[in-house]
Amino acid sequence: MAINLLLGLQWGDEGKGKIVDVLTRDYDIIARFQGGPNAGHTLIFDGYKHVLHTIPSGIFHKTAVNVVGNGVVIDPVIFKRELDNLSKFEIDFATKLLISRKAHLILPTHRLLDAASETAKGKAKIGSTLKGIGPTYMDKTGRNGLRVGDLEMADWQERYDALTEKHIRMIDFYGVKLEYDLKELQEEFDEGVKRLKELTFIDSEEYLNSALKNGKSILAEGAQGSLLDVDFGTYPFVTSSNTTAAGACTGLGIAPNKIGDVFGIFKAYTTRVGSGPFPTELFDEDGVEMAKVGQEFGATTGRPRRCGWLDLVALKYAVQVNGVTQLMMMKSDVLSGFDTLKICTSYMYKGEEISHFPFNVEPENVRPVYSEFKGWQADLTQMTEKEQLPKNLMDYISFIEKEVEVPIKIVSVGPDRKQTILR
Ligand code: GDP
Ligand code: IMO
Ligand code: MG
Repeated sequence: MAINLLLGLQWGDEGKGKIVDVLTRDYDIIARFQGGPNAGHTLIFDGYKHVLHTIPSGIFHKTAVNVVGNGVVIDPVIFKRELDNLSKFEIDFATKLLISRKAHLILPTHRLLDAASETAKGKAKIGSTLKGIGPTYMDKTGRNGLRVGDLEMADWQERYDALTEKHIRMIDFYGVKLEYDLKELQEEFDEGVKRLKELTFIDSEEYLNSALKNGKSILAEGAQGSLLDVDFGTYPFVTSSNTTAAGACTGLGIAPNKIGDVFGIFKAYTTRVGSGPFPTELFDEDGVEMAKVGQEFGATTGRPRRCGWLDLVALKYAVQVNGVTQLMMMKSDVLSGFDTLKICTSYMYKGEEISHFPFNVEPENVRPVYSEFKGWQADLTQMTEKEQLPKNLMDYISFIEKEVEVPIKIVSVGPDRKQTILR
């Protein structure tokens, strides 16, 4: 059996949570492979709305097992809150939510370090979600980190204290003023750890590879998006993990030759939250309209998302880096009502027209070149069959498929599980 991947092709918030939830009925296991509580994955069904941060988006289905892989970073405090928020669903977490022993832990002082680093950067700040993601991955690659499996070791407290002390010295080094009560933060952390230890810890690479051998189907759930990848994103305005397909191999312990389909998710337009370049960003009425109709506010931080037209240069780049085999276009309903739509097909880069995503996409170097499309007026949100989709939307879809050379298999027409059209 192969493992399928589902990942975001833009700057995150493409609608990964919704689609994982839709697809879960076809899978035995859903496995998150990177990121942490910087993610906010929204699921809407039966009148409920849930935002998941670390827990995989298959958690609401009766049979699927959800795995938090080794590539994920876990904050026990936020994790406990997520579990508490799901209490009314009577989910048997001990059997349905398994945690990799090799996943790294976000300590309270990682969060403080994130805040200190961002404050020190001033105007050049990344716009981090301040969940401690960067400092935790830095400790991972710096070989100082603490992992879930360390919680079972005799020297846990000693190692925790040593790392915390080191962090406090580093925070002082930044020379910025931070208000915090370490004792309170540690008590909250201990509570979180207590709850985390009630779950089942596993050697996840062993678990997942055995599952594949035994014919189980696995869907790997990405967080963030390809343009936030630490290697391929708009560095340094990125997150600290590999959000692309290769990250699923390292984040789960799955070999590349075990990967089957790669589902790439994108919005019919583009959004970005936080700092960093965004070639097709709009500062006019159209951008305001997208933000309003699309309710573009961060699921984790509530910050307004920046909006702009679809960028095919960036989309092709993401499709290439990930080896995407099927596309899913989200939030098509948000584009209803525009007279004219634009898609960026190339960049003017330092006076030359280029069609690849270059090293630097800062606005002083890059100007998007657009093709225009006729909009559609119909409300898509009640549509359930592909035959109902308006002709101008079908033209928009066909153009993207032709350019990107990958079929669009799902068209999403609203946030609810049911508002999903299969092609
Ligand atoms: P994720 O991080 O990729 O899981 O995406 P988020 O949950 O952060 O952001 C996607 C937002 O769009 C959420 O508020 C979803 O409920 C919403 N959403 C998803 N698909 C659609 C859609 O097709 N149409 C509309 N209008 N909203 C959608
Ligand atoms: P999901 O999984 C959108 C952005 C932040 C910031 C940068 C670095 O919901 O799509 P970090 O906290 O990782 O240090 O922030 O990355 N960012 C996201 N943007 N969706 C996300 O996740 C994001 N996770 C991080 O806004 O610009
Ligand atoms: Mg999100």
